Amino acid sequence: MYLILLGAPGAGKGTQAKLIADDLGVAHVSSGDLFRENIKNNTPLGLEAKGYMNRGELVPDATVISMIMSHLGTDACRRGALLDGFPRTIAQAEALDAALYSGFDSGIQKVIYIKVETEELLNRLSGRWICPTCGSSYHEVKNPPKVAGLCDVESTALYQREDDKRSTAENRLQVYFNQTMPLIEFYAAQNLLVEINGQQEVEDVKVDIMEVLTPLAGERSKPLVA
Ligand code: AP5
Repeated sequence: MYLILLGAPGAGKGTQAKLIADDLGVAHVSSGDLFRENIKNNTPLGLEAKGYMNRGELVPDATVISMIMSHLGTDACRRGALLDGFPRTIAQAEALDAALYSGFDSGIQKVIYIKVETEELLNRLSGRWICPTCGSSYHEVKNPPKVAGLCDVESTALYQREDDKRSTAENRLQVYFNQTMPLIEFYAAQNLLVEINGQQEVEDVKVDIMEVLTPLAGERSKPLVA
């Protein structure tokens, strides 16, 4: 099963993906997390991506597509993937379609578009704190950890992302409006898009998403022959 979480920076894609991927039995594949892992490990891919990310620009399509396609071919994704942050351009979406229909046996089952207003997005990005160990994401006001500054799961000190500074975050939103929003129309035209109100409590957003996706997971687990 291949699913996409679509939405602006700060819409809650990562938060929701971490909550639902296990329940759906698929791997959570975040292009941003894969880049940050490469940056941490000083790989050539990380060095290439770092400048773009710090400026709030998109990493070139060819680089992202090749990274995601190799990841989808790994054992971790054998039961499918919940894609978070990919695709982000029409060229990436077309490359994904081509790969899914040729190499990975089925297409995309659903695209969940998490919609949040711009001012709220900026507030969320500037208040976000992340666990360096498990990647859990918190907000200092709206979704705080139980103990200030520490991850609920790992108890490690939380950090703020370089690209969450207000001017970079504003640039990321502009890039989203120009280059990623056309995907809403792209997937709506294929009858794959479901819009979810992302401006509710985290748990309520999850309930709305699972209402759409649980039947799909059920379908996939039914035996082909009774
Ligand atoms: P990436 O890491 O993908 O960042 P993003 O898409 O900008 O998304 P974010 O992680 O900022 O937001 P999110 O929607 O996951 O929100 P979150 O759940 O954390 O990409 C970073 C960079 O990598 C890009 O700028 C680009 O350079 C590069 N890149 C990545 N993919 C690429 C691609 N495909 N092509 C080219 N370049 C690519 O939540 C945000 C905050 O809100 C948190 O504090 C959270 O606690 C809080 N929150 C979440 N839900 C709620 C809620 N319901 N109510 C209140 N607060 C909430």
